[in-house]
Amino acid sequence: TTKILTDNFKRQHNYLRISLIEKCNLRCAYCMPADGVPLTPKNQLMQADELLEIAKVFVNNGVDKIRLTGGEPLVRKDFSDILKRLSALPVKLSVTTNAVLADRYIEDFRRYGLNDINVSLDTLLPEKFKMITRRDQFKKAWKNIHLLIREGFNVKINAVLMKDFNEDEITDFILFTRNLPVTVRFIEFMPFDGNRWNRSKLVTEEEILGKAEEFFGNEHVEKLVDEKNFTSRNYRIKGFEGRFGIISSVSNPFCDGCNRIRLTANGKIKNCLFSNHETDLLSALREGENLEELIANSLNKKKAVRAGMNSFEKLNDPERHTNNRSMITIGG
Ligand code: GTP
Ligand code: 5AD
Ligand code: SF4
Repeated sequence: TTKILTDNFKRQHNYLRISLIEKCNLRCAYCMPADGVPLTPKNQLMQADELLEIAKVFVNNGVDKIRLTGGEPLVRKDFSDILKRLSALPVKLSVTTNAVLADRYIEDFRRYGLNDINVSLDTLLPEKFKMITRRDQFKKAWKNIHLLIREGFNVKINAVLMKDFNEDEITDFILFTRNLPVTVRFIEFMPFDGNRWNRSKLVTEEEILGKAEEFFGNEHVEKLVDEKNFTSRNYRIKGFEGRFGIISSVSNPFCDGCNRIRLTANGKIKNCLFSNHETDLLSALREGENLEELIANSLNKKKAVRAGMNSFEKLNDPERHTNNRSMITIGG
């Protein structure tokens, strides 16, 4: 990684998350505000050519991992074309998807070397799925998850936990890893604009681990070695084929190893998931300005922990996150 992707805390940003689209084929309440988000006019969104040009600047400066997000990335009409063109770059490609359309893209994933597929799925129950996503698509998502695993992709399931909604499914999710080579990751519910977050809806890392230990027995819950630049702390139930992990952005942040920088569908970079400071690369590209300088400036402003919300109290302050985008236009 060269200088422009290193921040003031010596963190090297080699992992670019690109949001391809602001739209989604589901309507999860914690991700999207009830009345939706004002959609960006099309001429302010990155076209495939522009996206590629911007991505190349990052790759030339040390990015070696790109994750495609959304909205729902597979809803974008030119997804295959973008994937094909990104696959010509020296990067590891990955995608985060709700899997509803995944069966249509198996060939493309394979052809273009995309092996890492993270699937958002918050419940194992069709009725609950309908409630949280406001769409009746559980069957398709479920079928496609199994298809992806069967086809040998590296599949991680992301489940955002919410009090009194799906915390009772923690052990069922872990049981899902018994005979399948899959990772299930529990995610602490995070505050974003319009998602009605509050402390009482949070299920913490401590509670999740507690539930696992209570059900499977302490001695059967094995902590795995933390990966470099991890988001999730991982565990395995002894004898199980798969693993589970916990992404504790709220109660136990992992910012000291952060290597992630984000590019939104309208071409802005965010130096942190929680930062509302955005740098408009798309306009700069269209004006023929130097992008590297802008990227460096953005990372120079990156804070040590969660965009400056270094305590739980600060994160809890609604003033601080109502200025941030809704998750649907960040992509996680
Ligand atoms: P891997 O490449 O498989 O490690 O995936 P990932 O965890 O980087 O990405 P994914 O899109 O699957 O995100 C899973 C959850 O982690 C989502 O809820 C994200 O919002 C959250 N997440 C991802 N990156 C970050 C980050 O940099 N900071 C925080 N706080 N959360 C993150
Ligand atoms: N808190 C935590 N995770 C969230 N995601 C979306 N909104 C939130 C939130 N408010 C997750 C999705 C997806 C990932 C990219 O981000 O479930 O798996
Ligand atoms: Fe990185 Fe910000 Fe996430 Fe912390 S909260 S890990 S600094 S993106």
